[in-house]
Amino acid sequence: MHYFEYKNGELFAEDIPVRKLVEEYDTPLYIYSAKTFKRHFEAFDSAFEGLKHLTCYSVKANSNLCVLKLLGKLGAGMDIVSGGELFRALKAGISPQKIVYSGVGKREHEIREALLADILMFNVESLEELEKINEVARDLNKKARISLRINPEVDPQTHPYISTGMEKNKFGLAREFALQGYKLAKELSHIEPIGIDCHIGSQLTSISPFLDALDKILDFYEELKKQDINIQYLDLGGGLGITYNQEEPPHPLEFGKALKEKLKGLDLTLILEPGRVIAGNAGILVTRVLYTKKTKKKNFIIVDAAMNDLIRPSLYGSYHKISPVVENKGEIITADIVGPICESGDFLAQDREIPAPTKDDLLAVFSAGAYGFTMSSQYNSRPRAAELLIDGDKVTVARRREVYLDLIALEDNCL
Ligand code: LLP
Repeated sequence: MHYFEYKNGELFAEDIPVRKLVEEYDTPLYIYSAKTFKRHFEAFDSAFEGLKHLTCYSVKANSNLCVLKLLGKLGAGMDIVSGGELFRALKAGISPQKIVYSGVGKREHEIREALLADILMFNVESLEELEKINEVARDLNKKARISLRINPEVDPQTHPYISTGMEKNKFGLAREFALQGYKLAKELSHIEPIGIDCHIGSQLTSISPFLDALDKILDFYEELKKQDINIQYLDLGGGLGITYNQEEPPHPLEFGKALKEKLKGLDLTLILEPGRVIAGNAGILVTRVLYTKKTKKKNFIIVDAAMNDLIRPSLYGSYHKISPVVENKGEIITADIVGPICESGDFLAQDREIPAPTKDDLLAVFSAGAYGFTMSSQYNSRPRAAELLIDGDKVTVARRREVYLDLIALEDNCL
């Protein structure tokens, strides 16, 4: 469910016609809906009512400061994977006690920053990292709270680039190493093991891989108890999928119910790290048709948004629904919708059926709120798009459009 709806044949972002926003802010343009963010966060978080839990929004999905602030006000914690994300979360006013830090390659200065901020815990992914965190904590005379990320070796049945919980993936520790890790953690003077963590992948459209992973984690939790290692937090990561096209992912309520069932009676606080399910359908990318052309083989619609603005179709072959901003009753054609970048991999859609647009028409690319702007770049020296946050009839420029000077702002030695 989201608040991008057609009224009288044209697309609105909450109470404002998208066409009007483009008149003022130009294209390519990311538009987010505050009401949708709120609705998604509340639907997700309330699915775990009755269970001690903390919903740590995964900052990587959409890290705009306005978005983080909005979610923080609703009570969200944050899942971060870099010093930069820590910086953003703190700037957004998130309590460090609600921040968990994941990722296989934390650098020393990032560990120091997180320790100084006194975050809730580090999700540790290797024994060497554990030793490093101990070392940095010793220097600061602090105790680092940690959990170890277990690789539960389950297949999340999603795109290989976003599967993380299989034996062949770089993430987490296999059970044997994890046991060794907890024993080491107990011995290290500046480490306090308080949690157990896993994250098996992203855009999961069924509950069973989560439950399989949870069974394995709970089994391991029992083993830890026997070893006198007392865990208080169970972090199950993120990964719940959304509808881009025909997918029918479980509703958060169903997900919550299934997890509550398995966790009842256990003295554990559940941590969840949802990203896409909160942000994905809370944003669209609006683009303008520059030209259309026909080749011997195909119809092309050339638009002003490109793979530098939204890389998901190029990188994962992923589907984003694309529709005219002002409904167009023209003939349906099959076309590739492509950007101006000099690569054949630069497309937003391939072989897509769409009412034939004409030059200057606006198209909305849906489900672009997660892993859209955060994965954007300046490739081909294209200034990055602007981001707007709409709340009813109120517009906030959440990030201004970059200008040419932004492209060279850090190259002053070469001027
Ligand atoms: N926690 C950890 C440790 C993660 O690695 C991720 C995502 C999440 C939570 C949030 O997962 P979500 O709820 O959003 O599925 N760029 C890709 C997605 C990469 C996901 C990486 N990790 C895409 O555009 O599909």
